[in-house]
Amino acid sequence: MASFVEAAVSIAREAGNLLRYHFERRVAFELKSAFDLVTEADRASEKLVVERLGQLFPSHSVVAEEGTGQERGSEYRWYVDPLDGTTNFAHGYPVWNVTLALEKNGELLAGVIFDPTRDELFAAEKGSGAYLNGARMSVSKIARVEDGLFSTGFPNWNRSENPNILFFHQFAMASHGVRRSGSAAIDLSGVASGRLEGFWEIGLNPWDLAAGKLLVEEAGGVCTDMDGQPHHMKSPHILVDNGLIHEEMIQFFSEISQGRLRYPLPALSQAKSQV
Ligand code: IPD
Ligand code: CA
Ligand code: CA
Repeated sequence: MASFVEAAVSIAREAGNLLRYHFERRVAFELKSAFDLVTEADRASEKLVVERLGQLFPSHSVVAEEGTGQERGSEYRWYVDPLDGTTNFAHGYPVWNVTLALEKNGELLAGVIFDPTRDELFAAEKGSGAYLNGARMSVSKIARVEDGLFSTGFPNWNRSENPNILFFHQFAMASHGVRRSGSAAIDLSGVASGRLEGFWEIGLNPWDLAAGKLLVEEAGGVCTDMDGQPHHMKSPHILVDNGLIHEEMIQFFSEISQGRLRYPLPALSQAKSQV
């Protein structure tokens, strides 16, 4: 019998190949709410993942974004994002993935992110490290925000009440930059693989972050909420980073939250080119 992580890898590869098939043919999208997109690819991928999990682990609970998972009262629970980065996918922008993770009584045991467009398979098992295409990964060694590259994201719901643009601006000014990939799992895998020093987001769901959180921790990084408190699946915000930069990030978030901005917002009239 395959281990949990081996099963997750095989399911993610199968679902990722199905997603690539749809991506190459361009699929139409529908709106779940004002700016929240869903495509037939999300549904087809979820059907496949939920079916495979049901065949392999019929007693396990499954929480899947498009709502076809089942609560079975098990101590084991899978979190499934059948397509993370749907907005990118629907526009033909090649930054998306499929991700799934398993927790037992609240502890993450296994997590996988498969990015078919770059053929990158990220996998982690509790206590056994984190791997990219079979090679061990570790977080970066950069120890100062001013030397770092970061990423963040903005949920598709409640957009007007999300204060993240302030954090985005302050960190962008204080560092080498802040990326917004449109896929939380890709962002999290970026921290785990040392390509980014840190990532944060306000309002993510468990299926977006479960695998990436384990990847970061197994790669030697840390995960808390943006106040530095322990992160759990229902926390309103998440911060992951390489650990070395953690205290500085928390301190900076705290200042920004209190309205103490290091960098004032510029006016458009100040804009000029370099030459
Ligand atoms: C979204 C992406 C995006 C993040 C949003 C998520 P979806 O997931 O991960 O980067 O900023 O908060 O909802 O809807 O494409 O699965
Ligand atoms: Ca997602
Ligand atoms: Ca999704």
